[in-house]
Amino acid sequence: LSYPSGIDLQDAFRVAMRRFAATVSIISCQHAGQPFGMSATAVTSVCIDPPAVLACINRSNATNRMLAEGVQFCVNVLRSYHSELSRHFGGSGRGFERFRYGNWAFSPEGPPTLVDAQANLLCSVDCRLEYGTHSILVGRVLRIECAQEVDVLVYQNGLYQTISPAPS
Ligand SMILES: Cc1cc2nc3c(=O)[nH]c(=O)nc-3n(C[C@H](O)[C@H](O)[C@H](O)COP(=O)(O)O)c2cc1C
Repeated sequence: LSYPSGIDLQDAFRVAMRRFAATVSIISCQHAGQPFGMSATAVTSVCIDPPAVLACINRSNATNRMLAEGVQFCVNVLRSYHSELSRHFGGSGRGFERFRYGNWAFSPEGPPTLVDAQANLLCSVDCRLEYGTHSILVGRVLRIECAQEVDVLVYQNGLYQTISPAPS
């Protein structure tokens, strides 16, 4: 496969992006007492001082519309056994329906948190940059909870996978 001769640039981009292995998270928030959540792989660390992450979210997603500056959200990093949960939060079902799946803790003020997540990063939207079809949200990290063992769910080439440590 090669661009420019072989295929369209956007098709080539899709193929290349499938070569990225990415940890799967569910980004959750709440608005007017309603929980929102969506699966996301486009989440990464920005810096440690201050602790911040970024998330790239399609502007057509309901969750995106709730995430104005200052609004809190949680990055719930999924475990290896959460592939079905990720599917639920990746398209099927809307709004509160999605939260029938998974072990969620709800609070009146903050975003829902996945109790058995690999890690939960509570953030507040510090800034937003609109680019093409997506918004790049920088989340200032306010609080972190982390499981002891490392057992993340990975998405690569359109498939859920788990990884084991490389042999030393
Ligand atoms: C594994 C996986 C990873 C995804 N990663 C992203 C992502 O990083 N950004 C994004 O905007 N959508 C991503 N999606 C798609 C959203 O989860 C999907 O559009 C979601 O249903 C939007 O829900 P909402 O409109 O209720 O917010 C991903 C879906 C899956 C299954």
